[in-house]
Amino acid sequence: MSAAARIVEVAGEHAYRIVIGPGALADGAALASFVRGRHVLLVSDSTVAPLYASAVREALHEARPDLLVATFVLPAGEASKTLANFAAAIEALASLGATRDACVFALGGGVVGDLAGFAAACWMRGVDCVQLPTTLLSMVDSSVGGKTAVDIAQGKNLVGAFHPPRAVFADTSTLRTLPKRELRAGLAEVIKYGAIRDPRFFRWLELEHAALLAGDDDALSLAIAGSCEHKAEIVARDPLERGERALLNLGHTFGHAIETEQGYGSPHNDNLNHGEAVAVGMVLAARLSAALGMADTADTDRLAELLKVYGLPTTIPAGLAPESLLARMRLDKKNLAGRLRLVLWRGVGQAEVVPEVDENRVLAVLSG
Ligand code: NAD
Ligand code: GLY
Repeated sequence: MSAAARIVEVAGEHAYRIVIGPGALADGAALASFVRGRHVLLVSDSTVAPLYASAVREALHEARPDLLVATFVLPAGEASKTLANFAAAIEALASLGATRDACVFALGGGVVGDLAGFAAACWMRGVDCVQLPTTLLSMVDSSVGGKTAVDIAQGKNLVGAFHPPRAVFADTSTLRTLPKRELRAGLAEVIKYGAIRDPRFFRWLELEHAALLAGDDDALSLAIAGSCEHKAEIVARDPLERGERALLNLGHTFGHAIETEQGYGSPHNDNLNHGEAVAVGMVLAARLSAALGMADTADTDRLAELLKVYGLPTTIPAGLAPESLLARMRLDKKNLAGRLRLVLWRGVGQAEVVPEVDENRVLAVLSG
């Protein structure tokens, strides 16, 4: 493992470590140290597995020749995050004969991480999971914090569990093969941390866009570590989203509605991916906040401008009806007692949960 590794600790009842740096996946001894028994299920997708799965398997075997490692590969893309594929992952654990001391390694982006984590949460009521994120989005967000889930037709992530990983290894050298569009999607979630709680980070992102978009290793490592520190601090205090963790969902209620309404895509279609939908969602949340008198329009414009600089969309894709999006938003997990509960903001660095938002105001923003 290179000397350039950064470590972020996630405190709490299920404390774990996030290792960030080039070469993290080659450290077989470190990976294998989280396997208590002999069974390993390596879950990946059809794009990531050919690139990195054999290196991970070899690293594990070199450190622990006694391990029984099976690989389960999903077709790449959000459309794979289904109950059917969850069941297939469970079948793979059963075929392996995985016992309670088994370990699931999730090698890929958030789709793989969420589905593999959910399988680990459910097999024999819970086995260990180690997250090996390979997209920027999964390094800065989905691999940390233990939310696992699959999508159903009615909405994203509606079936899942909280199941914290035993460790996260974010090998930044894998970002070199990541398509630029996916890099930009991850940067949307990085911008989110600045928007909800860190004006200095937001300013840094305004200044460093060229380096980050060019895939500069140092800039990306700083962005990942900075994002993970924010997420670690929040999930350590509120692992089950009883309070402040909801702030991490700025833009997500709008974004999930867009994703669900457009249909879950493959990596090759024109639908917005998760990070892009969150980018649009953050602008809509900010515009709604300004309309409600909570935030300045100037701050909203600043957020939209930053997202545009990073090549991210800021408006709802054509063809999605405002009423249909609102209907999707009513099924969001944050809602309580049938009322729209949204994360809104008061300007750069300050977000808050607003428990009962008037649907007509939301519809007005959705209608542009
Ligand atoms: P993804 O997993 O679909 O990955 C995006 C694309 O990049 C895929 O086609 C994948 O095959 C490809 N890819 C991955 N790594 C690559 C690499 N190194 N080189 C080349 N190609 C690579 O999408 P994502 O953006 O990583 O994650 C989005 C998912 O994460 C959504 O389902 C979202 O709901 C979920 N999510 C979960 C949480 C959480 O807290 N659990 C947080 C945020 C997002
Ligand atoms: N992505 C939001 C959360 O983990 O809570």
